[in-house]
Amino acid sequence: MKSKQFSKKTPKNTSSNNKTHKIKKVGILTSGGDCSGLNATLRACVKTLIHDYGVKVIGYRDGFRGMIENDYQELTFKDVSGILSIGGTILGTSNKANPFRQFQPKTGEFKDVSKKVVADAKKLGIDALIAIGGDGTMSMAARFTEMGLPTVGIPKTIDNDLMATDLTFGFYTAVEIVKESIDRINTTAMSHHRVMVIEVMGRYAGWIALYGGVSGGADVILIPEIPYDIDAVAEVCSSRNKQGKGFTIIVIAEGAKPIGGDLTVQKIVKESFDTLRLGGVGHVLAHQLEEKLPRLEIRVTILGHLQRGGSPTAFDRILSTRFGHYAANMVMRGEFAQMAALRGSQIVSVPISEVAGKNKFVPPDHDLILAAKSLGTSFGEKQ
Ligand code: F6P
Repeated sequence: MKSKQFSKKTPKNTSSNNKTHKIKKVGILTSGGDCSGLNATLRACVKTLIHDYGVKVIGYRDGFRGMIENDYQELTFKDVSGILSIGGTILGTSNKANPFRQFQPKTGEFKDVSKKVVADAKKLGIDALIAIGGDGTMSMAARFTEMGLPTVGIPKTIDNDLMATDLTFGFYTAVEIVKESIDRINTTAMSHHRVMVIEVMGRYAGWIALYGGVSGGADVILIPEIPYDIDAVAEVCSSRNKQGKGFTIIVIAEGAKPIGGDLTVQKIVKESFDTLRLGGVGHVLAHQLEEKLPRLEIRVTILGHLQRGGSPTAFDRILSTRFGHYAANMVMRGEFAQMAALRGSQIVSVPISEVAGKNKFVPPDHDLILAAKSLGTSFGEKQ
């Protein structure tokens, strides 16, 4: 440990159980798509482990690629200082590297390299691992624990689609960007009397579209959980026009689909955790509307990766800090194959089995949907 300032401190928080003394070196990685708050989380984990326990921390580069290829660096107090407000991840990440199913470019096949990865981590003296990621990462965390590499998970994703936690960090920063974008697009919509379609991310769940759409005051919000009726959407646009409003703001989740229709897939990335890349449903909707409303001008904006970038909001900085600190303590308490989660206002630890391989969808009777409907927002439902 380089920082003399902390090296002689008596470990705090050691009363929980007798496993504390066994943990001397902890590995950490960020995996899956980046989002705001990853650095804030790394900072909280690493500082807690060093400051409270004098533990050495090893950061793997580019998620599981670093574990597969033994590419890592020590993370000192200094390394994680000054990164709270910075987007992305100082460690790098990958949504392709997967020790249980690693793509082999030479043969085009997949290989399980997990045993070697666990053996290499042991050789390096790693006593426990902290994996910051989404549902795919959590499944791997559970399997590593079974294989003798005790692992703790921290939930991240802008999509907010992880089970067992009320929120993931990165979500509210993405929502803030959607809100800000709607505010800006509103001025063109009003000035030119247009229908403006704004496509947002979220994979198969409509959380970003719902929260972003409501906070931006969208007139129509289309989410995967409620397949839309194109006639109902067209009716909103034309009746707003007749009422003299002259413009309509439609927020559509990338995973939304018309009644009886399919997902709009932009491309297939076969070596990735989730092979489908969604995108383009905003244009599909615009074409459908143009056929029904030839006199209205329709424009599409796809927000894409803007939603993942930039500085985290105060809310996400705080959630990241709480998750990171709590996960470091979970490691020291020996709470493995568990994930830090937000339940109400409390941070708790939940079994990864409650999370792995599952998605949290928006319930169609969610109170925000009911509130928005009472305020006149359409969810594209058949009239
Ligand atoms: O899971 C986060 C996310 O941004 C999704 O909302 C989106 O569908 C996907 O990742 C995009 O992935 P990529 O960065 O590989 O295009």
